[in-house]
Amino acid sequence: MESLKAIAMEVGENGPLRLGVLGCGNLGEGLIRGWLKSDPDRTALQLSASHRRAERIKHLQSTFRLSFTSANADLAHWSDVIVICLRPPDVLPVLSGLRNLFTSTKLIVSTAAGVNPAAIRTAVGDNCKVVHVLPSSLLVVPGYERFGTHLVAREAGREEEAELVHSLFSRLGQVVLVPIDRIPEFAVLCSCTPAFLAAMWLEMMRALENVGLPSETIRQVLAQHVRAVATALERGDDLDGLISRITTRDGITEAGIHHLEQKRAIEGMVIAAFEKYAGAAQQ
Ligand SMILES: NC(=O)c1ccc[n+]([C@@H]2O[C@H](COP(=O)([O-])OP(=O)(O)OC[C@H]3O[C@@H](n4cnc5c(N)ncnc54)[C@H](OP(=O)(O)O)[C@@H]3O)[C@@H](O)[C@H]2O)c1
Repeated sequence: MESLKAIAMEVGENGPLRLGVLGCGNLGEGLIRGWLKSDPDRTALQLSASHRRAERIKHLQSTFRLSFTSANADLAHWSDVIVICLRPPDVLPVLSGLRNLFTSTKLIVSTAAGVNPAAIRTAVGDNCKVVHVLPSSLLVVPGYERFGTHLVAREAGREEEAELVHSLFSRLGQVVLVPIDRIPEFAVLCSCTPAFLAAMWLEMMRALENVGLPSETIRQVLAQHVRAVATALERGDDLDGLISRITTRDGITEAGIHHLEQKRAIEGMVIAAFEKYAGAAQQ
């Protein structure tokens, strides 16, 4: 491969793209599963991954029937695109050790939410291009993968690479391209909200169970109501308008909503997540 330009925007146009997942834990396994599913004939993507433990490699090999390696250097050498799926404290030491292999023909995709992008650039050197991605955590939950929204960072001078990464992650679910300096705020939206929503519904279920309602009925009714709200969101309907149409003035729903607004619990949840993320990224 001569240059990154040779990786056509339509992945697979120039033959399969060699996609290597470095540090194939939970996220890496989800990515491999999704990409394999998106390309069952393997015409667009050639996949491989590395892991430091032999038993994990054995497990991956028997699950996916692909070739995996314990040598990160071999994977980095083989891959056109290297997707870093290490835990944050491992990222910089591993990347620094592979620096000599990161030539201008390689693209690195960093998934390490909370590792400073500037520190990653220093670790890989100037030769190599880096695109930052925040994959959805739903990717690692079988049966829920398709509901994930993945964030791809847009950076001046990296548009072509971001587009390539966008097309790779579009194979796995919805993708949103965002300016790199807005990643923390978008991370709360794309990464935290599935769990936030689940936690809110769980609280509501517990409260209704506590007043003696049967769980099965609560689940049935809440599932319908989640669909109603999701439909309003998809249609772009005004949620305030929906609330006022289904709320009687001075009635019991209004009292409940007033209580929720006074507590500002949801705003607190978002701010807490954002502050934690922003703090980690500065380290
Ligand atoms: N999980 C998610 O839903 C999700 C979503 C978005 C972003 N992310 C990001 O993705 C990254 C990985 O998260 P994860 O949940 O997949 O973590 P994980 O399951 O712990 O995966 C990381 C893997 O890397 C392996 N590893 C450590 N050092 C290595 C080395 N030198 N060479 C090769 N492999 C090595 C670890 O092995 P050991 O098991 O031996 O430690 C572990 O299996 C994190 O930076 C996280 O912020 C994760």
